[in-house]
Amino acid sequence: MILDQLTLHDFGVYRGEQTFRLTPQGPGKPIILIGARNGGGKTTFLEGLQLAFFGRLSQGFRGGVAYDEYLRRTINRAASPKDGAAIEVKFRRVLDGREQAFRIRRTWSVQNAGVRESFEVFVDGAHDRVLTAQWAEYVEEMLPPRIAPLFFFDGEKIEQFADLGGSGEIVGTAVSALLGLDIVERLQTDLDVFERRKAATHASISEQQALKAVADAAEAAQARLDIEQTALASAKRHRDRQILLLERARTNFKTQGGDLFQARQEILAEDVELTGALGAVNRSLRAWAGELAPLMLVEDLLGEVAAQAERESQADTAKAVLDHLAKRDRQVMQKLKAARANGVMLHEIGAYLDDDRKKIAAQATTHRYLDMPRPARAQLETVIDQGLPAAHEVCQALIVDLDSLTARKDDVDRRAAAIPAPETIAPLVAAVEAETNALQQAEAQVELAQKTVEDAKRILAAARAAYKDTMERQVQSTLQAEDAQRMLEHSARVRETLARFKAEVIGHHVHRIEALVLEALSRLLRKEDLVTAVTIDPVTFAIRLSGGGWDALPFEQLSAGERQLFAIALLWALAQASGQTAPTVIDTPLGRLDSGHRQRLVDGYFPHAGHQVILLSTDEEIDARHYARLEPFISHSMTVEFDPAQRSSRVREGYDFVRAEEVA
Ligand SMILES: Nc1ncnc2c1ncn2[C@@H]1O[C@H](COP(=O)(O)OP(=O)(O)OP(=O)(O)O)[C@@H](O)[C@H]1O
Ligand SMILES: [Mg+2]
Repeated sequence: MILDQLTLHDFGVYRGEQTFRLTPQGPGKPIILIGARNGGGKTTFLEGLQLAFFGRLSQGFRGGVAYDEYLRRTINRAASPKDGAAIEVKFRRVLDGREQAFRIRRTWSVQNAGVRESFEVFVDGAHDRVLTAQWAEYVEEMLPPRIAPLFFFDGEKIEQFADLGGSGEIVGTAVSALLGLDIVERLQTDLDVFERRKAATHASISEQQALKAVADAAEAAQARLDIEQTALASAKRHRDRQILLLERARTNFKTQGGDLFQARQEILAEDVELTGALGAVNRSLRAWAGELAPLMLVEDLLGEVAAQAERESQADTAKAVLDHLAKRDRQVMQKLKAARANGVMLHEIGAYLDDDRKKIAAQATTHRYLDMPRPARAQLETVIDQGLPAAHEVCQALIVDLDSLTARKDDVDRRAAAIPAPETIAPLVAAVEAETNALQQAEAQVELAQKTVEDAKRILAAARAAYKDTMERQVQSTLQAEDAQRMLEHSARVRETLARFKAEVIGHHVHRIEALVLEALSRLLRKEDLVTAVTIDPVTFAIRLSGGGWDALPFEQLSAGERQLFAIALLWALAQASGQTAPTVIDTPLGRLDSGHRQRLVDGYFPHAGHQVILLSTDEEIDARHYARLEPFISHSMTVEFDPAQRSSRVREGYDFVRAEEVA
């Protein structure tokens, strides 16, 4: 990473907009020298840089106050808090072989007693919303805030790293951040949490109690159903018996003439009707007997009378024609003789005529005793031809009717006779009624028992479903508990592996850091035999120095200057080990070092501390002599001048603290 420019606007001692050009001019000239006297604004510059990049993640604000309060205090006293302050940094970074130009801008102001801060990122001139929103993640990958002190530091304040605790801490932080071990640690913490959570997963006692309760409920429901089903069966048996009893009572009622008794009204009505019909037929028969009926008894005699009357009538007729016929026959014979008829023919005809007259004469001799007058004969013929056949027909029909009615009357009489007396039938009717009622009750009981059984079945089904549910849930939680157990075992193994991995990685890097620290120390320390070995505990990261007759050189044994040098050597080594390409910014780099050690830093450290080294120096530190030695490595320089009238600082090009002739 290359810092190109830092602009401070009403930030701390800097009034208005003050811009520092920071781009190193060409290779081999990594140093940008900024001179300022006490209170000029060197530390303010360093803070501005950190604040721009890390915001509230910056390590240790001045005054140990809360972030908002710190921001409020940094606004230049002459500026309006409402207008606030701003810091802008331009830098470049090569990512995936491509260089990108960044500009980050942080502004803040006091609004309604609160501090409002805003932050924006521009990449290659364009506002980048995504990066603005995700800056914390981005900066964590680019330059983790925790290791920023390896690169941006105040030379006077780094002594803290030169004791057992401080050095161990910075080495530990650096190692874990640089090697990505904080991810391993986070993973270990996560595993811890995970194991605690999983350990809590087990089938609880209340779950088992719940299962027992639902099992009991299902069993009780089954017992209830059994009882109700027995009751139903018994009710059905009772009902069937009642059907039988009713059947029996009905049969009894029937065999005892119950049906006839019930039909007695119709039977009596029929009896009355038949009696009436028979009376009518008898009356008809009597009427009939008073008319032609008696003549039917002498039907043959009537026939004979009619024949005798006929014969007598014929005899009268014969008598009347016989004389006339004799006269006419004589005339016929005379005529025939006159006509000279053949003798045979005469004989034959004469014989026939005589014979015929004899026959008629015989009729005329009939015995007469009736002498029936003509009207009487006509009346007789009417009776014989019409009256008697009609009487026969009427007689026949009446007799058929009489027979049929008599038969029916006999039947009705028999049935009427068989109708039981009401007092006989009453108990039978009562029995049928009683059994009918009893059956109805039995049916109702069966129905009720049926309903109760259905209810019991429903309750049982629900209880069984609840049991099944609870059971399944319990099985599920048992499985989960087993899963949890398995996971716990795996987790333990993962933790073990992680711990081994971490130890091995740390061990490897710790040796590298040991070598780098020793090398840096040997470049910076004047007493070359003071420290001959550096060992770092891979667990505590405690640094042990040995040399100068000490196996474990106590840090207190080091002088203040030596401690400062040791701290610089440590930071330098760690910065090298990190492989980061961040610029090195050193505030008050020479501090309280003596001239010899200053010389060593100037010669051995600053030109090699990195590809961009920003030195914030007082006039006492980088003086003409040091300047001369550093000059080949200096890209350019600036001076911050405090104006007592304005009570603020301004930046100017050039290093004011040495004059050209001094350098020469
Ligand atoms: N809000 C502010 N407005 C104006 N001046 C301020 C503000 N805050 C701090 N200062 C002044 O800024 C100066 C501190 O500057 P800074 O610490 O950067 O100086 P320095 O160059 O690091 O000095 P030293 O060499 O002593 O470390 C002080 O004089 C302080 O009064
Ligand atoms: Mg300072």
